[in-house]
Amino acid sequence: MEELIREALRMRGYSYVPYSGFRVGAALLTREGKIYTGCNIENASYTPTNCAERTAFFKAVSEGERNFQAIAIAGGAGGAAEFDYCPPCGVCRQVMMEFCDEKTFQVILVKSETEYRVMTLEELFPLGFGPKNVQE
Ligand code: THU
Repeated sequence: MEELIREALRMRGYSYVPYSGFRVGAALLTREGKIYTGCNIENASYTPTNCAERTAFFKAVSEGERNFQAIAIAGGAGGAAEFDYCPPCGVCRQVMMEFCDEKTFQVILVKSETEYRVMTLEELFPLGFGPKNVQE
């Protein structure tokens, strides 16, 4: 948990954010204990922007990972010494829904190494539409 939080905070340093200046880092933990990291990557055309969470998920899934237990997310204005919790956007919640069990997957919202809040995906994304809905 501590390492995951530190990694999310560290990844803010790699954010490419010339348009918003809002730096987000994410660290995704697999069930086997491996960590995949991500940062947000913006674009002059705006809509191709990729959030930190999706960067981490797509790195992991593209390496063959499918089983995840938690993600830590830290985000705030680039120059700020302190920042608020950065809840994942709706698109990222939908991506989590595709690969995670909503009852057990933990989303760790990070303010600092010592200040964080843990929620399940289900709490953040109640009645989310996922793979089960398509299969049934
Ligand atoms: N962003 C993330 O990377 N993750 C979130 O959870 C919220 C928003 C990014 C997208 C954009 O680069 C910047 O933060 C401002 O919206």
